[in-house]
Amino acid sequence: MTTKTLHKHSWFRDTDFHTINTEKPFPDKCLNLKKRLGGIQAVSGEVFLVIDAAGQKYKLHRCKNTARARRIAMIVNLLQKVFPALIGRDRCYILFSFVNGRTLEKRRTIKECFEMGKLCSYVSAIQIKGNFHFSFQRKLNDLASNKLLAPAEKKSLQQIYFQLKKQVKLCSVLELWDSGLPNFMVSEGKIFFVDEGGAEISIRGSCLLSMIEKLNSKQFKSFSQGYGGRKAMTFFTSEYELLLRLFYFVGIIFARMKRGDKRINKYLKPLKYFARKGKPPIRFLMKR
Ligand SMILES: Nc1ncnc2c1ncn2[C@@H]1O[C@H](COP(=O)(O)OP(=O)(O)O)[C@@H](O)[C@H]1O
Ligand SMILES: [Mg+2]
Repeated sequence: MTTKTLHKHSWFRDTDFHTINTEKPFPDKCLNLKKRLGGIQAVSGEVFLVIDAAGQKYKLHRCKNTARARRIAMIVNLLQKVFPALIGRDRCYILFSFVNGRTLEKRRTIKECFEMGKLCSYVSAIQIKGNFHFSFQRKLNDLASNKLLAPAEKKSLQQIYFQLKKQVKLCSVLELWDSGLPNFMVSEGKIFFVDEGGAEISIRGSCLLSMIEKLNSKQFKSFSQGYGGRKAMTFFTSEYELLLRLFYFVGIIFARMKRGDKRINKYLKPLKYFARKGKPPIRFLMKR
């Protein structure tokens, strides 16, 4: 890609390349900064392909700051089975081995769906204290004050939230909360979760939400079996699912609003539907 074509896209910030070349993280490995990974869809825009003198590829993640890089490295160390090998951290940079494979976005086998399920359930077995109430309220208020939600919609969502909250106890765990299919890769039959920023303390079951939307029923069945089957999913009742979905919509719309991401309608419309009907459109719900 030429610089000119790159400049057409708002996610491309020329200065990042300059900064990395000036700061020189992992000087023996990052000899050649090739390109931003993930192309146009990349959410964070923080990850890059770099190559060493021998032509070996790596993924370089430039985090917002050193504290964030430390936290990510800590979580990745807890979940070594899940991520590509972490080579090290240097200030706000983290270096990973490069996966020569494909993401599961466009194509995935039934077996690969099973393995994704196993990975997700392995991660969410780790319980950690977390409280999601205040951040949810703050985000909902922000959506309303930015006029994305009408006052009546906000009020309705508040009511739905408090009603569901009475019925459901959300469980807090370590989760692959950003479990979009581009974040899973397969190489020689092994599945990796490659978006190290997408694993955090979150609500148990968050990893199911993208799967419900994106997998067909055969694939989802296989995913669920990998996740541990019916028994492992007893916590995921209809009410639990609704409350989780509400958190998910509000969280993702809030994040996109902050980034100035134009794809806000994808979830704003279903959230408005949720406010009217008390539940999201059927494609967002697990078939039971
Ligand atoms: N270790 C890796 N090896 C090879 N490709 C990777 C690796 N990590 C990420 N990618 C590719 O880069 C894309 C974006 O990476 P990701 O870490 O998910 O960034 P973002 O936070 O911007 O989504 C992934 O969807 C995948 O295609
Ligand atoms: Mg990603």
